[in-house]
Amino acid sequence: MRVDIGAAITILLATLQLATTTQIKIPLNFRSSSNQARLPQHQIWSNDKGHNVDLKDWFNRTDNQWYSDISIGTPPQTLSVLWDTGSPFLLLPNNSCNNCGDHRLFSPGNSTTFTAIQPQTLDNISFVTGPDAIPLSAPQGATCTENVDKVSIGDLMVPDQAFLLCNSYASMMNEQPMDGIIGLALPSATSVKSLFWSLWDSGQLESPVFSFYMPTGKIEGAELTLGGIDESRYTGNLSYTDLSPRPYALDLGWVLDQQAMYFEKPSWSHPSTQPFNSSGGGNAGQGLAILDTGTAFIQAPDDETAKTFYAEISPLIMPIDGSHGAWGAPCNQISDFEPKITFTLGTGSQAMNLSLPESSFNLGEYPGSPGICQTIINSPGIPSFDDNDTPVWIIGSPLLKAYYTVWDGINLKIGWGSMAFDSGVGQ
Ligand SMILES: *[C@@H]1O[C@H](CO)[C@@H](O)[C@H](O)[C@H]1NC(C)=O
Ligand SMILES: *[C@@H]1O[C@H](CO)[C@@H](O)[C@H](O)[C@H]1NC(C)=O
Ligand SMILES: *[C@@H]1O[C@H](CO)[C@@H](O)[C@H](O)[C@H]1NC(C)=O
Ligand SMILES: *[C@@H]1O[C@H](CO)[C@@H](O)[C@H](O)[C@H]1NC(C)=O
Ligand SMILES: *[C@@H]1O[C@H](CO)[C@@H](O)[C@H](O)[C@H]1NC(C)=O
Ligand SMILES: *[C@@H]1O[C@H](CO)[C@@H](O)[C@H](O)[C@H]1NC(C)=O
Ligand SMILES: *[C@@H]1O[C@H](CO)[C@@H](O)[C@H](O)[C@H]1NC(C)=O
Repeated sequence: MRVDIGAAITILLATLQLATTTQIKIPLNFRSSSNQARLPQHQIWSNDKGHNVDLKDWFNRTDNQWYSDISIGTPPQTLSVLWDTGSPFLLLPNNSCNNCGDHRLFSPGNSTTFTAIQPQTLDNISFVTGPDAIPLSAPQGATCTENVDKVSIGDLMVPDQAFLLCNSYASMMNEQPMDGIIGLALPSATSVKSLFWSLWDSGQLESPVFSFYMPTGKIEGAELTLGGIDESRYTGNLSYTDLSPRPYALDLGWVLDQQAMYFEKPSWSHPSTQPFNSSGGGNAGQGLAILDTGTAFIQAPDDETAKTFYAEISPLIMPIDGSHGAWGAPCNQISDFEPKITFTLGTGSQAMNLSLPESSFNLGEYPGSPGICQTIINSPGIPSFDDNDTPVWIIGSPLLKAYYTVWDGINLKIGWGSMAFDSGVGQ
């Protein structure tokens, strides 16, 4: 999920500085430039096994998002959370919440280890993408306070984890089965240390990496490994791409340089070996790619790019929800032209071609539009360019689930492996 925390984070930082008597450690700058964030190279972590967390897939219309239970408070209360590389916080609904749907709610009054840090509400946390493939028509906000409590997951535990407790929720949260969100952003993304980095700093993890195995088409059987790599989940060797070295790129999250985009269909007489170009002829697939397990689609940097792309594929692909950003075509014709889409991701000669299978082009029948199926690339609500006018794509779970991925926030790189398919837990 993409979260815009512009105004809210300033308050978090200011408040946490006043609250230094709590055990939370506060980095001096929350928006460290990528140079500051770039630490010296350490060892290769690939021999460390880590702690496996079984994930469930929210399998609705298409494979969307992966989640698990966590425990919070004393005695522990259990809530489910979406594991999200696109946001930095642990965010849960308070028992006061009256627009949190059927979600389980956290009761701070029932936890002896609960501590409120920031009673003033942070009302400007806004979600730019939601849990479903349906684009949000406008960013949605949640109203939350900042608190500390004990959080555990499996055999791992943080006694004083900072988290946001929300008294009102973004409406898109109601549509998903998970009660909350657990951010896996880079350590430089926020002043509030996320659960993963709390675990790493407390010495409970063997290595500062986490790894996702998200097999497509299954509700059960996905796995997140905290602090290691599960070698049974991929075949061959991992290939690594460094995160973007461009100044400030990492402020956007887990970001790779995107060099080009290709599309082809084996049955087309001339499969494209030329990159996707803008209508003016420039390389329209070049820019930055935010890797976000919490976004269930691919988002182009602007509407024009999506339009030019779809014009190359088929005239049958049209905007399907007014100006909200979804595109689609008649379900019974889409297989005639669904292409294999390839992104060239990584810096310089390290770049790799990473492909979406043809089958992921069709996101399924669009709610409210019988016979019309959504296609994988959405237009953004607002054009997405960084401070240097570089186009910013969001590469969501459809591409990330096609590979075994290893996320290293210290050496600032992503490892990619070929998925190992087992004989089918929960097939
Ligand atoms: C949130 O946004 C509103 C409207 O944009 C603004 O008036 C308010 O000051 C912001 N609040 C915080 C906490 O930044
Ligand atoms: C599946 O998605 C549809 C459309 O977004 C929604 O109305 C429905 O509640 C979802 N079902 C489940 C079980 O999540
Ligand atoms: C949580 O909700 C309760 C009411 O149930 C309220 O008294 C309390 O202030 C809320 N706590 C936070 C931290 O928002
Ligand atoms: C708190 O715990 C008590 C005792 O188990 C329970 O009766 C009550 O419903 C809980 N309160 C909330 C708000 O969950
Ligand atoms: C993996 O890497 C090792 C060591 O570099 C090499 O010997 C081996 O051939 C590689 N395996 C594959 C499948 O590429
Ligand atoms: C990616 O694929 C395109 C089209 O086949 C090819 O021209 C290009 O060299 C490939 N790039 C890399 C980094 O493999
Ligand atoms: C894209 O532009 C490049 C550079 O101008 C050109 O070499 C290439 O042929 C174009 N690709 C297509 C598919 O038109």
